[in-house]
Amino acid sequence: MSKKIRVGILFGGKSAEHEVSLQSAKNVIKAINKEKYEVVPIGIDKQGRWYFYGEAEYLLNVENPKLIKLNKSNKEITIISNGKDVQLIDLANGKEITALDVVFPVLHGTYGEDGTMQGLLKLVGIPFVGPSVLGSAICMDKDVAKRLMTNANLSNAKFITIRKFEFDLFDFAEVENKLGLPVFIKPASQGSSVGIHKIKSKDEFYQAVEDAFKYDNKIIIEEYIKGREIECAVLGNHNPKASVLGEIISHHEFYSYEAKYIDDNGADLEIPAKISADIIKKIQGLAIKAFKVLECEGMARIDFFLKENGKIFINEVNTIPGFTKISMYPKLWENSGLSYTRLIGELIQLAIARFDEEKKLKINFN
Ligand SMILES: Nc1ncnc2c1ncn2[C@@H]1O[C@H](COP(=O)(O)OP(=O)(O)O)[C@@H](O)[C@H]1O
Ligand SMILES: [Mg+2]
Repeated sequence: MSKKIRVGILFGGKSAEHEVSLQSAKNVIKAINKEKYEVVPIGIDKQGRWYFYGEAEYLLNVENPKLIKLNKSNKEITIISNGKDVQLIDLANGKEITALDVVFPVLHGTYGEDGTMQGLLKLVGIPFVGPSVLGSAICMDKDVAKRLMTNANLSNAKFITIRKFEFDLFDFAEVENKLGLPVFIKPASQGSSVGIHKIKSKDEFYQAVEDAFKYDNKIIIEEYIKGREIECAVLGNHNPKASVLGEIISHHEFYSYEAKYIDDNGADLEIPAKISADIIKKIQGLAIKAFKVLECEGMARIDFFLKENGKIFINEVNTIPGFTKISMYPKLWENSGLSYTRLIGELIQLAIARFDEEKKLKINFN
């Protein structure tokens, strides 16, 4: 039998979405085909330290989503390349623990989904799942992603970008004139609805802006789109495929952090979404176009608003979507006939295929 492929699964991380990542990783590790892949769980704590586990437990309070925690093992590690292999090194003695063949960063948000981790993995020279540096960075920055989508005629909500250093000069009248009310205020680079506010008047504006600026030095103010929230999963490198569609039916004012993760009844998912065949086709086409325009590879989940009059807006693109057991991305594929286990296998193979293509370029010397 051929040797198993050794997959490093990264989880936790320096991110407001640390705990979501733990849930996602638990499910990825459970579902991965152990006949074909050898799993190496790698935890990253909120300070950015990496841990190796071997047979040890990598999570605490696993069964309780509210208390789930990273187990900080006593084996702190780092990742290096020795020019031949990519290895995990025990920081206590500098010795190699294991080599890895591929990495699946099951990390959400900052320092995981935003291109920084992808940069590190690219530098050490190992294939990894999901978009590379550029696609990850673009999709994490809502301002840049929207500019590129607008440029490609992909409809998205009208918006204004403000940088912290220039906010003193900002006039609220611009919001009312250009976007109307209500509006959404968002840090440019966040996820899980952290720092996002829906405001209906000038009175609420300044406090919301102040909060959004806690997460980023750049924020966007966006026109309110009244519509259904529809999501589509995309998978592939050169010939990406779109899944069936799902709908998020939020029971809160909007799909907030509370609705997503705190309130058990915060939202319902409907898969497949009840939409007419021609609109489904349109949304799937737009999902694939957005995937390409935003330089995605491997996977992404494209989120839409669908207005009553049939008009479609792209809200945002997530390059490492949730992989918890209730998450849309794996569920959409399951409903499209691709099981969770096969989906993970496919993602790993796509990572290796991209790496092998890049290896042939003249910029690589080995
Ligand atoms: N322009 C908008 N119009 C209506 N609802 C919005 C708008 N922007 C965001 N929302 C609501 O806020 C939620 C979170 O916003 P989103 O941009 O998706 O941020 P995140 O990256 O944190 O998920 C959306 O799922 C939706 O419910
Ligand atoms: Mg979102």
